[in-house]
Amino acid sequence: AIERTFSIIKPDAVAKNHIGAIYNRFESAGLKIIASKMVHLSKEQAEGFYAEHSARPFFGALVSFMTSGPVMVQVLEGENAVVANREIMGATNPAEAARGTLRADYAASIDENAVHGSDAVESAAREIAYFFSADEVCPRTR
Ligand code: CMP
Repeated sequence: AIERTFSIIKPDAVAKNHIGAIYNRFESAGLKIIASKMVHLSKEQAEGFYAEHSARPFFGALVSFMTSGPVMVQVLEGENAVVANREIMGATNPAEAARGTLRADYAASIDENAVHGSDAVESAAREIAYFFSADEVCPRTR
């Protein structure tokens, strides 16, 4: 089915000038970018976005990293978009990411791992709504 997923290019990949290369991976795989913006997350925004991880030992480092510089947030649309994007990204830990995936190519560590992608259609809807109003999402008509 045609799905939408939410994606973040994290501060490490933005700082290394990989925005275009990563967008090319999405588009080459048939995913359409139907919403996009650059934001420098506040501590409150990052804590709210990652609330499900608030009890994890890495939470403080995660929030600190995610607020360390601007990120690109985008909505990707396409066939099976949630799983398709997870395949493009590769495993959370770049040491375990398959060759040719974004994490294998652009991530330095599990903490600074270049990209985030929704893990399910339900979380995608929640994450999209966290960053984008309805009028900022622009499905293609051609
Ligand atoms: P992300 O998909 O953005 O969701 C939470 C992030 O926490 C994850 O990517 C990793 O970058 C980071 N993280 C750090 N340590 C861990 C861990 N042990 N397990 C899962 N995520 C971790």
